Amino acid sequence: MVTPGPAAAVASVPGHLLRTVRAARRVSVLTGAGVSAESGIPTFRGAGGIWGKYDYTRLATPAGFSEDPRLVWEWYRLRQREIWKARPNPAHDVIAAMEMRFEDFHVITQNIDGMHERAGNRKVIELHGNIWRMRCTRDGTMIGIPGPVGEIPPVCQCGSLMRPDVVWFGEALSPAVLEVASQAARESDVMFVVGTSAVVHPAAALPALTKDSGGVVIEVNLEPTDVSTYADVSFFGRAGEIMPALWTLISSPERFMTGHPIIRDR
Ligand code: APR
Repeated sequence: MVTPGPAAAVASVPGHLLRTVRAARRVSVLTGAGVSAESGIPTFRGAGGIWGKYDYTRLATPAGFSEDPRLVWEWYRLRQREIWKARPNPAHDVIAAMEMRFEDFHVITQNIDGMHERAGNRKVIELHGNIWRMRCTRDGTMIGIPGPVGEIPPVCQCGSLMRPDVVWFGEALSPAVLEVASQAARESDVMFVVGTSAVVHPAAALPALTKDSGGVVIEVNLEPTDVSTYADVSFFGRAGEIMPALWTLISSPERFMTGHPIIRDR
C-alpha cells in the first residue's frame, strides 16, 4: 500500500499493522545510504549520487586498488572527512531508540559510515564494512582508524599495504556476517527497510526473507523500489521526517489506537 507525505502516511497506517509492530519482539532495520542523506552524506545512485561523479571501477574495486592505491586512499580520505563532519539525523536517532524498545533488535546496514553506532546503536550488522577500519592486504590484520588523519597509503607493520575494510564491487560479503544478517531477517516479526534502492545483492534480498518467513515489511524511501512490490506498507518521503512520526505512533500509549480520528481500523 502506498501513502503520500509523512503526516498523512503515518496517519493512515492500518491498525492491525500498528498492533503487529507494537507487539513485535524481534525487529530489524535494513538501511542504505538514504538514511544518512539528511546528515549530508551523499547517496550512491540517483540525483547527486556518488557513482554519477566518480568512477567506481578505479575507486571501489580490488583492480582499481592494486593499480593506484594512493588514489583510492585519497578518495576514502575525502569521504572520511565528509562523514567526520556529519551528525546522526532524526532517522538514526529513532533507530537507536528502537534498540531500547524491542527485545531482539538488529540494524543491518549497507552503510560504511558508522553513523548508527554514533547514534547509539550497539546491535549493528555491517554488511559492507566500515570506513573507520583498515586491514592488512597480506594477513588481514584489522586496525581501527581514529579519524581522517595519517599517512596514505597506510602501511602495515609487516610492510604490506593496508586497504579500507569495506566490501568493493566484485568482492563477496563475509559469509559469517551474511549468515547473521540472513538469520536476523528470517526471524524478524517486523523489518523496516529505510533508504536503500534495493539494487545491490545480497543485501537487497533480505527483506524478502522476512516476508517469506511471515514477517511484516515496512519501507521508507523517497521513491518506490523493488521492495515496494511486496512491502506491507511503503512510506514515500524523507526518512528524517517519517521515522520520527512513525516512532511517535509506535511508542504512543495504546489509547491512541481506538477512537482516535486519524486511526481507522481497516
Ligand atoms: N530518506 C529516505 N530515502 C532516501 C533519502 C531520504 N532522505 N534520500 C535518498 N533516499 C533513497 C533513494 O531514493 C534511494 O532509493 O535512498 C536510496 C539510496 O540508494 P543508493 O544510493 O543506491 O544506496 P544503497 O541502496 O545504500 O546502495 C547499496 O551500493 O554502491 C554500493 O556498497 C554501496 O552500500 C552501497 C550499495
